[in-house]
Amino acid sequence: MKLEVIILAAGKGTRMRSDKPKVLHRLAGRPLLSHVLQTARQLGADRLHVVVGHGAEQVRETIADSDINWVDQHEQLGTGHAVLQALPDVNPEATILVLYGDVPLLSVSTLQPLVELARDTMALLTASVEDPSGYGRIVRTASGDFAGVVEDRDASAEQKAITEINSGVLAAPAALLQRYLPEVNNDNSQGEYYLPDALSLHIESGARVAISQATSELEIVGVNDRVQLASVERALQQRLARELLLDGVQLADPARIDIRGSLRCGRDVFIDVNAVFEGDVVLEDGVTIGPNCLVKNSRIGRGTTVLAMSHIVGARTGESCNVGPYARLRTGTELGAGARIGNFVETKKAAIGDGSKVNHLAYIGDCGMGGGVNIGAGTITCNYDGVNKHRTEIGEGVFVGSNSTLVAPVAIAEGGFVAAGSTITKAVAAEELAVGRGRQRNIPNWQRPGKANREEG
Ligand code: UD1
Ligand code: CA
Repeated sequence: MKLEVIILAAGKGTRMRSDKPKVLHRLAGRPLLSHVLQTARQLGADRLHVVVGHGAEQVRETIADSDINWVDQHEQLGTGHAVLQALPDVNPEATILVLYGDVPLLSVSTLQPLVELARDTMALLTASVEDPSGYGRIVRTASGDFAGVVEDRDASAEQKAITEINSGVLAAPAALLQRYLPEVNNDNSQGEYYLPDALSLHIESGARVAISQATSELEIVGVNDRVQLASVERALQQRLARELLLDGVQLADPARIDIRGSLRCGRDVFIDVNAVFEGDVVLEDGVTIGPNCLVKNSRIGRGTTVLAMSHIVGARTGESCNVGPYARLRTGTELGAGARIGNFVETKKAAIGDGSKVNHLAYIGDCGMGGGVNIGAGTITCNYDGVNKHRTEIGEGVFVGSNSTLVAPVAIAEGGFVAAGSTITKAVAAEELAVGRGRQRNIPNWQRPGKANREEG
């Protein structure tokens, strides 16, 4: 069976009160539409059609996946009209699944049975909810068969009391949609072409519509405003935290973690409160992440401890490193095994060798550093001359005294020693001591300046 998915994403999303098209608002770090696309791909869709209208250009540019057939709906005349725009592009033999770009939490396990039901008839996903207001209600016959969907705005008081609602998600053989959708009219309070009206036409022809009920209300919730976006975000984060716990990760508080991308963890990882993970992050076995850390597109090596308030982006650490508190590892930082990066240290494009220590208040950028190096507090690599970046090479076992400035390009060969407070502008050879500071002069019997004589003044 061929499966093609049509995702509706042409609506304006007025209630977001934003200049950004609604489906581009981010949930767990990714656009809403990306979540829906991911679900469609996991279902094994043979083709993906996305119907766009408001902000179409921006949506296309932001998503930019090459496997999408973009369909324009120039005027938003209703969900039925939206699906109709995509129908000329679908294989008439296929089963069609209609999803909404603003309903991001539907699971594959909920959709799979719906698609199965739609092999030879139209099938609708419904849900029983506590507060049905705003949704289309499911009207059933006396014998309990599906009779149709009535929109909130068209519903009688009696119908408004119905708590079974239309999730909006529908699956059907393409041929049936092609038969009924062109016949749907806009004879309703909103003057729109309603997609569920195609189901009514199918029933009028004497057929039946299959119903599948979603088990969780959360799955079918749509994002219409920022309140809903925030609550969907929390719900998704809770789900992700639960998965981590079940996978054996220890979380100090599952309500205080944010995963905006993919987080893969080894065994016996511990994550303290308020950690934020973005992009692709890997925490190997036995890693500890302290409170209030941000880790983005990084790999943290086995047994490494990251202490509180550290900011790690585009970095890799080896085994058993110690990072933080208050460390900032920027893109291109690579720490060898057992390296230590302490408080208020910033590193960028820096390869730091095994067991090397940069423990306090330093900037190490565009630097290659051997193992066993000790960098004193306040040391800076002056890597930028205002135009170009230059490299600093530091050999094995080098000792750089506190408050030194290493003016790149410069190299300190292995075993070199830099006296505290030096400004190093020339290469230091192996085992040399470099002293690059003004000589100390002591003046005996120095008279401190006194206060000026006020009477004379
Ligand atoms: C729709 C359903 C309603 C259901 C609810 C579930 C219809 C007529 N109503 O109502 O029964 O309970 O969803 O959330 O189907 N869209 C387009 N083009 C259009 C109109 C809409 O692409 O011309 C897209 C929107 O961007 C959105 C989706 O379709 O992603 C749903 O549209 P919306 O206007 O939000 O429908 P509801 O009134 O919520
Ligand atoms: Ca909606």
